[in-house]
Amino acid sequence: MSTAARAWVREALRRIEADAQRSADTHLIPLRLPGFAGIDLYLKDESSHPSGSLKHRLARSLFLHALSSGWLREGSTVVESSSGSTAVSEAYFARLVGLPFVAVMPRTTSPQKIAAIEFQGGRCHLVDDPRAIYAESARLAGELGGHYMDQFTMAERATDWRANNNIAESVYAQMRLEPHPCPAWIVAAAGTGGTLATIGRYVRYARHATRVCGVDPERSVFFDAYVQRDRGLTCEAGSRIEGIGRPRVEASFLPDAIDAMVKVPDVWSLAAMHALADRLGRPVGGSTGTNLIAVLACASAMASAGQRGAIVTLLCDGGERYRQTCYDRDWLVTQGLACDAERAAIDAAIDSGRIPDMLAGAWRLAGDLKG
Ligand SMILES: Cc1ncc(COP(=O)(O)O)c(C=O)c1O
Repeated sequence: MSTAARAWVREALRRIEADAQRSADTHLIPLRLPGFAGIDLYLKDESSHPSGSLKHRLARSLFLHALSSGWLREGSTVVESSSGSTAVSEAYFARLVGLPFVAVMPRTTSPQKIAAIEFQGGRCHLVDDPRAIYAESARLAGELGGHYMDQFTMAERATDWRANNNIAESVYAQMRLEPHPCPAWIVAAAGTGGTLATIGRYVRYARHATRVCGVDPERSVFFDAYVQRDRGLTCEAGSRIEGIGRPRVEASFLPDAIDAMVKVPDVWSLAAMHALADRLGRPVGGSTGTNLIAVLACASAMASAGQRGAIVTLLCDGGERYRQTCYDRDWLVTQGLACDAERAAIDAAIDSGRIPDMLAGAWRLAGDLKG
C-alpha cells in the first residue's frame, strides 16, 4: 500500500475514533413491572446513538474491521445488504470517512427508512425479491470496484465480544450500583444475530451467571434453527418486524451462545410496542416490542421459581420511522395486525404479573424457558 493510501486509512480510522470520543454511551432506563415484585426491568436505549439504532455500534465495528483489514481505500464504494437500520448507520460512517455508500434492500422497505439513508448521504438500490439482496450486493460491489460490507457474515467477526465497550460490557458497567448488578436474563432479538452473539460470548467470557434469551418474530427461521440445530432452514416470506427475523439462518447467528428462545407472533410484538410507547411516553420500534414479550416470559419463569433479580433488554430504535406503518391504525388493519385485545392483555400482564392464556397459547418457548 502506498504512503498516501496508508495516510488515508490512518485519517479514516482517526475520524471514527474521534466520533466515538464525541459520543456518550447509551442510557440504561429502568421500567417498572408492577405485577412482578422483586423483578427489575432495564431498557438499553440504543435509539440515542447518532444514527438512531443499535446498528451504530455494528457499523462502527464493520468500518474499523474493513479499514484495518485493508479492504477500504480512498474512493471505495461501500455496499451493504440491509433492511434499513444498518444502512442508515453505515451511510453515517461512510460519509464520516468520505466514501460513497449504496444500500441494497427490498422494494418494500418503508419510505421513511429510505429517506433516513439518503439523509446520511447514502444511495438506495431496490430489489423485488428480498432473498436477492446478498448476491445483488456482491455483484454491485464488483461492478463498482467497491467493497461489500456483508453485515450478516461479518457481524460476529467484526464486533469485539471481549471488551471495547461492547453492548454487554456497557450494560454490566451501568448496572454496577443497581440492587441486582448481575442481571438474571439479557433479552435480545436477532437480525444478523450479531448482537446476541456478542452478548452470549461476553456473558460466558466474563463468567457471569446471567442467561441469554433470544427472540424471533414470524416469517423467520431463527427459533426453529435453535430448536432443531439445523442451519439449512429457510422460509419464503420476509419478516414484518423491521430489523429482525430472517428467511435463512445467518452466519452470525450462534445458537450455542444462547440459553433460551421465544417465538413471538407479530400481532403481539406490535401490541407490546404500543404498550411500551405509552409507558415510556415516546414511540419505539417493533423489534423492541418483540423483546418485551420475551421479557414477560423470563419474568414469569422467575416469578414461578420465586426468583428475584433484574432483566435487561434492548430498545433497538426509535418509533418515529414507523409513524406511517406500525403506528398507523389503518395500516395495522390492512396488514391484519390490529392488536387492541393483545395490547390490553399485555398491560394487564405487566400490572398483574399473570400471563394471559391468549399469550401463553400464542408464544413458543425453547431452551431454559421450556417448562
Ligand atoms: C431495529 C432493529 N432491532 C434489532 C436488530 C437485530 O440486531 P442484530 O442484527 O445484531 O441481530 C436490528 C438489526 O438490524 C434492528 O434493525
